[in-house]
Amino acid sequence: MNIQGINHLALMSRDLDATVRFYVDIIGLPLVKAYQTGDVPKWEHNGAVLHDGGNLIAPRHYFVDLGDGSLLAFFDPGQGATLPEDFVSIPGAFHHLSLNVADEEALLAARAELKGRGIPVSGVVDHEFCKSIYLRDPDGRNLELSYFVRQVGGPDDLHDPNPLPIMTEQLALMTSESA
Ligand SMILES: [Fe+2]
Repeated sequence: MNIQGINHLALMSRDLDATVRFYVDIIGLPLVKAYQTGDVPKWEHNGAVLHDGGNLIAPRHYFVDLGDGSLLAFFDPGQGATLPEDFVSIPGAFHHLSLNVADEEALLAARAELKGRGIPVSGVVDHEFCKSIYLRDPDGRNLELSYFVRQVGGPDDLHDPNPLPIMTEQLALMTSESA
C-alpha cells in the first residue's frame, strides 16, 4: 500500500457555521468544498448506504484546505437524520481520517490487499471530487483511503442546497474577486 499523506481529517461540529468561520476568518484557511450528501451520487458508511441519490439523510460536509492540498472536513450532525448507531455524532469528536493514495489503481490495489488480509472494507464510493474506500482500525476508528479525482476550490464547489452564512459569504467573495 502506498500512502501519500492525509486526504482529509473529518471532525464533528456542534455549530458548523461558527466552526468553519473560525478556521476561515481566524486561522486563515480557504473554504474549498461545501455540500450536503444529497449532492453526491451515493454515500456509504462502513458498508451501510446512508444516501443513495436524492434522498438526503446525512449531514453537511464543509472542507477547508490546510495549504498543501490536505483538507479538514467538518460535519454537522444533520437534522432529522437517521444515521446508523455507529456513526459518531458527538460535537468536537473525531469522525474519520482519510489517507491519500495516488489514483484509482492504487485504491483498488489497497482494497484487494485489505480483503486479502481478511479486513472488512467497503466498495469504492464515488464522492465526485474524490473516490474512497472505508475500513476500521483495531480500535474501531473509521479510516478511509481516497484519491482526488480533481482539485477542489472555486465557486462551483460551494453548493450546499441550504447554505450556511459562512458559505454564502465566501461564495460572494469569490464571485466578486473573479468579476
Ligand atoms: Fe471522508
